[in-house]
Amino acid sequence: MCIGWFVRPTLERLTNRYTFIRRARRLMNVYRLVRPALFGATDPDSAHGQTLSALAWIAGQPWAGALDRLFGYTDPRLESKLWGMTWPNPVGVAAGFDKNAEAVMAWEHLGFGFAEVGTVTRHAQPGNPLPRLFRLAEDEAAINRMGFNNNGADALVQRLTGCKPRIPLGINLGKSKITPLESASDDYLYSFERLYGLGDYFVVNVSSPNTPGLRELQAADRLGEIFARLQAANPQNKPLLVKIAPDLSLEAIDAVVDLCTEHQLAGVIATNTTIGRGGLKSKLQEAGGLSGKPLQARSTEVIAHIYQRTGGQLPIIGVGGIFTGEDAWEKITSGASLIQVYTGWIYEGPWMVRQILRTLSAKLDTFKLASLNEAVGLRFRSEPDRTN
Ligand SMILES: Cc1cc2nc3c(=O)[nH]c(=O)nc-3n(C[C@H](O)[C@H](O)[C@H](O)COP(=O)(O)O)c2cc1C
Repeated sequence: MCIGWFVRPTLERLTNRYTFIRRARRLMNVYRLVRPALFGATDPDSAHGQTLSALAWIAGQPWAGALDRLFGYTDPRLESKLWGMTWPNPVGVAAGFDKNAEAVMAWEHLGFGFAEVGTVTRHAQPGNPLPRLFRLAEDEAAINRMGFNNNGADALVQRLTGCKPRIPLGINLGKSKITPLESASDDYLYSFERLYGLGDYFVVNVSSPNTPGLRELQAADRLGEIFARLQAANPQNKPLLVKIAPDLSLEAIDAVVDLCTEHQLAGVIATNTTIGRGGLKSKLQEAGGLSGKPLQARSTEVIAHIYQRTGGQLPIIGVGGIFTGEDAWEKITSGASLIQVYTGWIYEGPWMVRQILRTLSAKLDTFKLASLNEAVGLRFRSEPDRTN
């Protein structure tokens, strides 16, 4: 209360529209300056936990709404309608950041247009032993082998009950480590049914490299069984998506896309982290999934492939190595209807979403487009050059 009395007017001064662009830029530069010290002083796992606790605390304060003006950016042209929902802007928090939905009420105040919580598994599980998250600063990347550490589906039900963000909320589902691959569909179905009323869309995650055997579920027979059972338990036809690995061959991606069509999935999330290590400057050798800049080109390639293969008929959420508005524009014009960020947000800081949205607005001006929707897959549409 006392802090709120001081913080609210201070934030309001800070977010005064005449000064905040200048201040946000200054704060962003400060973040870049102190980032090496911050990264050096904290181990990534506990830094992540502290960040989530801080965000959860902030979201509960009466002045939290004042942050909208500092981190948010509104342009009606960036709003879209997809799967019967309104997405205030195309930038979402990727899965894995807020596995237990601790900070679920904070994301809308940080400029995000949607958030995806999880991966949640049927059973609570501790994940892999520490250390399991590594920063590769010279590559603007991270390697993680978290192993789906989460409090389980029942705890997520408790956390989300009575707690509805203003922005669309996705729930990302995975398989518990103790569940054999043959029974994977039981696990997904349990979490899906328990959480059904609490999410706006659901994701079948079969692409994490950190649960032994999980990626084998991308094979058509196993995946088909999961899709069929979940769709049979989907009376409201809520959007069901699948998240795929960037390491699949293009033929294997085609097989997943065909299954999506067969089972009427709503879309694909491309991509999860990679087990590849190509082009890294860092000598660090750790097992796990690589995210950030080194993933960017491959994830865009996968998005472009799916968009072209489906003629743009299967919506794609693009994720992998997005740091700037230019990166986001590349993903969208390659076929992504929405995008998500994780590693970039760690490196660039909380002003990143705003910066991305400003750049996207400027792109719409340059290309004389009425809405971002018109930019989806633009690379593949032979239209006259509209920039002149
Ligand atoms: C520490 C960490 C944990 C992650 N955990 C999950 C997860 O639980 N479920 C999931 O679907 N993706 C998870 N991801 C993958 C991200 O959602 C995203 O697909 C990937 O990092 C690529 O995006 P980026 O380059 O913006 O980080 C995780 C990524 C990181 C870095």
